[in-house]
Amino acid sequence: MELQAVEKSYARWAPVYDRTFGAVTDVGRRRATSLLSELGGSVLEVGVGTGLALRHYGPRVAVTGVDYSEEMLAKARAKVAEDGLTNVVSLRRMDARELDFSDESFDHVACMHVVSVVPEPERVMAEIARVVRPGGTVVVVNHFQRARGALAVAERMAAPLADLLGWHSDFDRRRVLGEARLRLVEERTLPPLGMMTLMRLVKAG
Ligand SMILES: C[S@@+](CC[C@H](N)C(=O)[O-])C[C@H]1O[C@@H](n2cnc3c(N)ncnc32)[C@H](O)[C@@H]1O
Repeated sequence: MELQAVEKSYARWAPVYDRTFGAVTDVGRRRATSLLSELGGSVLEVGVGTGLALRHYGPRVAVTGVDYSEEMLAKARAKVAEDGLTNVVSLRRMDARELDFSDESFDHVACMHVVSVVPEPERVMAEIARVVRPGGTVVVVNHFQRARGALAVAERMAAPLADLLGWHSDFDRRRVLGEARLRLVEERTLPPLGMMTLMRLVKAG
């Protein structure tokens, strides 16, 4: 999606996101945050959205969130204030293709339900690889295109609706695996129905 389409789409999604897409995709957020909470340290959440994951991070994690949508960020800021989430360091508006952080500034990165939304996901993965420290973990949760079956057909049929839906339904997993500095160490599908996949990657040390 182009950035303007992202902005328009998520301004529309923001008021209803938590009760719709956000509500049915919580498993991935819980798994990713539990994994990162065990590791501890500084975490950058790319495409933090309405901040649905923020309350799931443990106390040993210091979270920085970035997103391009002001409307989504406003919802995230409200959650931080309402829940008194003291381990959220900052929430900033930023294009994930040009992260305003220096090299190796985070221990770990989370990127949930974002890679099939952003324009140029390869550039986003390159930025993630740049800002995470050597040996750091990157957790990507997303829906990826299926090779066969009825759902694969439905995904291909919905593909032209990306700007309306707010994501690409037929996103190829290889687009996040081309970054040479990040090695895939685990990949598993998540309930319900294996719609989402969690990938754990580690930056070469
Ligand atoms: C489907 S939402 C996912 C939000 C959150 N990670 C979650 O799991 O609920 C996708 C988010 O990616 C953000 N996004 C899309 N393109 C972006 C970009 N280039 N830079 C930063 N954020 C972007 C959107 O604004 C939106 O909030």
